[in-house]
Amino acid sequence: MLQGERILLVIGGGIAAYKSLDLIRRLQERGAAVRAILTKGGQQFITPLAVGAIAGERAFTDLFDPRSEFDVGHIRLARETDLVVVAPATADLLAKMAGGHADDLASTVLLATDRPVLIAPAMNPRMWEHAATRRNFALLAADGIACVGPNAGAMAERGEHGVGRMAEPLEIVAAIEQLLGGNEGVKPLQGRRVIVTSGPTHEPIDPVRYIANRSSGRQGHAIARAAADAGAEVTLISGPVDLPDPAGINIVHVETARDMLEAVEKALPADVAVFAAAVADWRVAAPNTRKFKKGTEVPALVLAENPDILAAVAGRKSKRPALVIGFAAETERVIENAKMKLARKHCDWILANDVSEGTGIMGGESNRIHLVTADGVETWPLQPKREVARMLVSRIAAALARPS
Ligand code: CTP
Repeated sequence: MLQGERILLVIGGGIAAYKSLDLIRRLQERGAAVRAILTKGGQQFITPLAVGAIAGERAFTDLFDPRSEFDVGHIRLARETDLVVVAPATADLLAKMAGGHADDLASTVLLATDRPVLIAPAMNPRMWEHAATRRNFALLAADGIACVGPNAGAMAERGEHGVGRMAEPLEIVAAIEQLLGGNEGVKPLQGRRVIVTSGPTHEPIDPVRYIANRSSGRQGHAIARAAADAGAEVTLISGPVDLPDPAGINIVHVETARDMLEAVEKALPADVAVFAAAVADWRVAAPNTRKFKKGTEVPALVLAENPDILAAVAGRKSKRPALVIGFAAETERVIENAKMKLARKHCDWILANDVSEGTGIMGGESNRIHLVTADGVETWPLQPKREVARMLVSRIAAALARPS
């Protein structure tokens, strides 16, 4: 799947460096040629000998190594590759990359390369959450650097738990395949069926009036686009929005929550279902068949609860997608409420966001996501909804690639 691709792997100084040896193997199995740079810190965890033995070419370690400069040189290392992968990417390496430093071979090559770069961060959760790392990560994301992980879970330090574990080798491979997939390789969601709900629902009051909300459908439509670009067969079930129908995607237009549920059930089975729609929680119990007229009595609306589409699909015994993903639009205690929603609705992941007035998220162009899973919470930078969609799709591809 990566036949003929050249990958330059920069191995930083973290305990996860041992997984990079396995990563080299997995990449080679798929036909990639891997060259490796081992930083000074990396050499504290694994040796150049081990890396060289697995890569089949000596590991590069020094900037001012006359032998390397003579035969390969840092500029050739930076250019003779299709992708640079930094795994593990330590807090220090991220800081160097964000600041444009070039004081060792790894940072110099990263500054000199004109090829796409993928980072797989790995560090202590406190370091990952530190304002400096958040800032550096946001700069790198804005520079177009792709990222996989870090995951939540147990740390090497005994008793420590949180977000900071390096993504597993197969997750990194999936992210690499997605990045290089543009060429002609197999796309990471090829052969997968994905359902996405998007937009608001409209619940009729009478033939001309309805209950609605501010959802624009931008986030849901972007997810459908990103999944289709990753090779999935996508069914997008959309409430009324002002967006054009995305090309190459089966689109089902619906109006009410009940129509949306019916369309979702019809679209099953699927491997993944993403519920990005802002479904109206209530409908008018008995919409008037004729238009309410002014002048008589002020109409009192009696509401009835709508079906919860996400909970219905997540709770299915048959045809439950392997990954059921919901959103949580919150205006307070965002993460706490999202965790409760995850448990209550029995879904696998919740993408929580703060839609308070002033955030501009509902109906806007950007989104700041907290990914809540059974393993913990991961906060993504504020980024365009298109980027959120790409990041989500790469996480989905990685999760599906992970052996269960
Ligand atoms: N959802 C759904 N069907 C509904 C209501 C919500 O499928 N009838 C889905 C949304 O698409 C979203 C998730 O459930 O993925 C959470 O939506 P949200 O509006 O945040 O939660 P609610 O369940 O409506 O809870 P509350 O409004 O009380 O926060």
